[in-house]
Amino acid sequence: MAYAAGVDVGSTQTKAVIVDEGRRIVSRSLTMTGANVIRAAEEAFQEALRSGDLREEEVEYVVGTGYGRYKVTFGNTQVTEISCHGRGAVHMFPQTRTVVDMGGQDTKAIRVAPTGEIVDFCMNDKCAAGTGRFLGAASSALDIPLDELGPTALRGQRPVKISTTCTVFAESEVLSWLGKGKKIEDILLGVHQSIAGRSTGLLRRVGLEEEITFTGGVAKNVAMIETLQHSLGLKVNVSDDSHYMGALGAALFALDHILTARHPAKTG
Ligand SMILES: Nc1ncnc2c1ncn2[C@@H]1O[C@H](COP(=O)(O)OP(=O)(O)OP(=O)(O)O)[C@@H](O)[C@H]1O
Ligand SMILES: [Mg+2]
Repeated sequence: MAYAAGVDVGSTQTKAVIVDEGRRIVSRSLTMTGANVIRAAEEAFQEALRSGDLREEEVEYVVGTGYGRYKVTFGNTQVTEISCHGRGAVHMFPQTRTVVDMGGQDTKAIRVAPTGEIVDFCMNDKCAAGTGRFLGAASSALDIPLDELGPTALRGQRPVKISTTCTVFAESEVLSWLGKGKKIEDILLGVHQSIAGRSTGLLRRVGLEEEITFTGGVAKNVAMIETLQHSLGLKVNVSDDSHYMGALGAALFALDHILTARHPAKTG
């Protein structure tokens, strides 16, 4: 049995996925990227090997992706995260035509063909306001752990209107609402609605088509799923492995390489 791995070195978190020849996920791992990007990539890969009870030699091909893909020093090649999120999403939800990847640094809207190939994409590269970092700023301003942001926001009844579109000012706007006596859950619901609204704009720009699959770490956030669906007026696909979708796509590209090298005439 041959194995293939994908390592997605994101601006915030590094994810690794190992798949077997049947395209099944054998193991996955997650670590903070931090300042030492090369080490984060190695740690994520080693942890995935440990949790899959595999030796490094058993993994025949490794694809690096994410902003730090060139820091995957043990990787055989690199593929962009746009391609990897598209591939992972179509593998998990074959009817996917639009992918929304919300990560720590930016949000990407990706349109894919039925084959999983990328048709078009667009991202909020000007400012991180539509992203995990904006949620991180709210989380530290309100002193609420990241994984409680969503459940807290869902208790909101009267969401505030967040006007800033810049992460740098998000913390002060959140604190000013708190100073005005607004409830934490209403402030957080407002923060989520603001991100959902901007992400919807991005998805419309890329030419929204159903089904929509939500990937990236922010897909772990229940309020983000709810507010995004509300803003779009459509359901989005989310899986427990949404955070690993880029790494999964990279692992599938790595597996393609192994299978093509073995049977060059049959695949392509
Ligand atoms: N358990 C969780 N609950 C809520 N949010 C989470 C959770 N885990 C991660 N996140 C969010 O996901 C973000 C990281 O997502 P991800 O790993 O997809 O980003 P990245 O790939 O490092 O960034 P980018 O793709 O922008 O370079 C964090 O900033 C955080 O906001
Ligand atoms: Mg990412």
